[in-house]
Amino acid sequence: TTTKMWQADSPSSDTGLREAADLLRAGGLVAFPTETVYGLGADARNTTAVGRIFAAKGRPSDNPLIVHIADPAQLEGLVYPLPPLAEVLMKRFWPGPLTIVLPVVPGAVSPLVTAGLDTVGVRMPNHPSALRLLRLAGCPVAAPSANVSGRPSPTEARHVLDDLEGRIDGVVDGGACGVGLESTVIQLTGSDEIRILRPGGVTPEQLAQAAPGARIDAPSAKAETGSAAEAEAPRSPGMKYAHYAPRGEMVVVDGEPGAVADYIRRVTSNARARGEVTGVLAFEERVHAYDADAALSYGSAGDLEHAAARLYAALRTFDELGVQRIWAEACDERGIGLALMNRLLKAAGGRKVLV
Ligand code: TXA
Ligand code: MG
Repeated sequence: TTTKMWQADSPSSDTGLREAADLLRAGGLVAFPTETVYGLGADARNTTAVGRIFAAKGRPSDNPLIVHIADPAQLEGLVYPLPPLAEVLMKRFWPGPLTIVLPVVPGAVSPLVTAGLDTVGVRMPNHPSALRLLRLAGCPVAAPSANVSGRPSPTEARHVLDDLEGRIDGVVDGGACGVGLESTVIQLTGSDEIRILRPGGVTPEQLAQAAPGARIDAPSAKAETGSAAEAEAPRSPGMKYAHYAPRGEMVVVDGEPGAVADYIRRVTSNARARGEVTGVLAFEERVHAYDADAALSYGSAGDLEHAAARLYAALRTFDELGVQRIWAEACDERGIGLALMNRLLKAAGGRKVLV
């Protein structure tokens, strides 16, 4: 397959998006930008098309896909019943990085989308090109992140091509994604509990503010280091797989900033002495202190949104530079920091040292 590329902001963008939407309706695979990461879309009702998503990504078939819609009116005939709390959260966070797992109407989407579960995750992305594409396609669009399974999620169109060129029909290039980490996936249990299956762009603090009466059940990345608990009872099917991983072996280093810097300086210098290619991912305030082969910056420690948006591109850069050992500074779990620590620890296979 030749993979087409359309520019989302060129004067001819509507022609491109129309062509992309036609391909989706005809059973094609089209990658598109969202505010979180690039998604790999297919018509959620078309089992052949959805099957091609799993094949292109090498994705395990027991990991369900998120369905993307352009308008809450598309929930009709897709999910039922709709709990009042779900409506409150949709009003507050859609379009946006919140996926809500709801009871699926039998037969509404291909059984491959739900991996045989009686629920489906739904979200309305906050990105003009995504919304325009979804509107033009007119169907619910199943879309996982547009990476090969296990690789860091793509936050730029070239990341999609690096992983999937020749295996998909096209990609809409909308530049870099703003959030840079995947959506928050939640399930509503009982009438007043919000269970966070995967932390993401919408923070527990924001959920608590939008639903003052609700109990928020959030996983703590730091409390689950080693992720043995998570491995035994993964919150969402996707969380049990090795994820977001660079090719080099990564370790997250947590502790007081001075001690973290001393530790990373020592281990990188030892590793370089052994002839290993080293990488460090650190906050701007300290990145110059490190003498690694590749020292990449998250941006300022005071701006975790920015750090989140940079993470996946940094992991891919380490791969391009052939880095074999990576040390990454930990961050606070406040706000988007919860999702950032979650992805860092996944990328590190749970390896964390506390100094
Ligand atoms: O931001 C995002 O959510 C991106 C963009 C493209 O929208 N999509 C994305 O999809 O991250 P994916 O497939 O990489 O991750 C979907 C996650 C997986 O962890 C999956 O197990 C979980 O959502 N999930 C999907 N349907 C579910 C369901 N019915 N019950 C529980 N978890 C579900
Ligand atoms: Mg993914």
